[in-house]
Amino acid sequence: MPEKLILAYSGGLDTSVAVRWLKEEQGYDVVALTVDVGMQKDRETLHSRALAAGAVAFRWAEAQDTFVRHFVFPALAAGAVYEGQYPLATALGRPLIAKHLVEVARQEGASAVAHGSTGKGNDQVRFDVSVQALAPDLRIVAPVREWGMNREDEIAYAQRHNIPVPVTRESPYSTDENLWGRSIECGVLEDPWAEPPEEVFEWTKSVAQAPDQPAYVEIAFERGAPVALDGRELDGVTLVKRLNELAGEHGVGRIDHLENRLVGIKSREIYEAPAAVTLLRAHQALEQMTLSKEQVRLKERIAQEYADLIYNGLWFTVHHQDLAAYVQSTQRHVTGSVRVRLHKGTATVVGRKSPKSLYDFSLATYDKGDVYDQSAAPGFIHVWGLPVRIQARAQMLEEEE
Ligand code: ARG
Repeated sequence: MPEKLILAYSGGLDTSVAVRWLKEEQGYDVVALTVDVGMQKDRETLHSRALAAGAVAFRWAEAQDTFVRHFVFPALAAGAVYEGQYPLATALGRPLIAKHLVEVARQEGASAVAHGSTGKGNDQVRFDVSVQALAPDLRIVAPVREWGMNREDEIAYAQRHNIPVPVTRESPYSTDENLWGRSIECGVLEDPWAEPPEEVFEWTKSVAQAPDQPAYVEIAFERGAPVALDGRELDGVTLVKRLNELAGEHGVGRIDHLENRLVGIKSREIYEAPAAVTLLRAHQALEQMTLSKEQVRLKERIAQEYADLIYNGLWFTVHHQDLAAYVQSTQRHVTGSVRVRLHKGTATVVGRKSPKSLYDFSLATYDKGDVYDQSAAPGFIHVWGLPVRIQARAQMLEEEE
């Protein structure tokens, strides 16, 4: 009896060829598994394509809700953005796909799992480390990392074996997408001086094509998670999809990032993340209103640590659990609404309100109604400035002589 292997299957050239290669060259019974984290893919098409490539079975895992609830929204609450630019869509999807690989491997009694990542990227790290954390006994095969075929070789291999590959026009780009965003690299994008051609964008309008009139959207948050758009309560998946359309229509969420991969390479990636960019900005605005200065300051540092952890494939770690517990605790009072103006590629926060607001009009105002006791200020300044005066007298003023 051949051993069983579960392959993370996207239906593209790499994983279609991988099905046959794992069967012919490695002798596995291959179960193709597609985990739906919100890419626009047709289940029936993938099913028949996987079987035609030689899979013994096709499995589909509906994971959009889990993805948003347990991966995307916690990352949003953390404010996780890699190197100040990338909202981490691809990086967040990988550990969830790995989790499903392991689950299906257990159900099917498989001894191995496989994925279509190359040996140069971050995704291989995320898949391998996640599987190793969840199921150290499972063998991990990464055909594309091992087989030494280039794209032409793969196409020839597919033709030789009658493997149906997507008949879409030959695209020079490598893309990945889920609800939180779309990643695009390769082709002309590998020249960091070259402006991304309009054809790489699918979710966002160009500034020129975007409507002249701005749109306003009101986003309601409860304990740090978005729960409603324009007064309508929505489940997370619907909310993110709706916002991707709305903000994408206005050209919001295009990102051009020359990033530092974990494997030591600098690479240029284009991202489209309309909902992510809009929600991150709105969430930050609400935190500015509901968190203390110290909370905001520490959270900024945690956000960077959190983003690195996601990017570097360390989702299934105790360190992550610790950071997540801190972030969750900070969100207890991050409840309220934010108004965002979407216009010509920009998402601008124009208003915020919260029942837990720390903003006090009667303290802040310069108009009548001011309750701030200005006569207390000189005493405060006297104490605040004490060490400054002493040091200046003893050291700085002396130096000038
Ligand atoms: N650079 C991004 C990351 O490491 C995306 C990787 C996948 N990109 C792609 N175009 N297939 O998360």
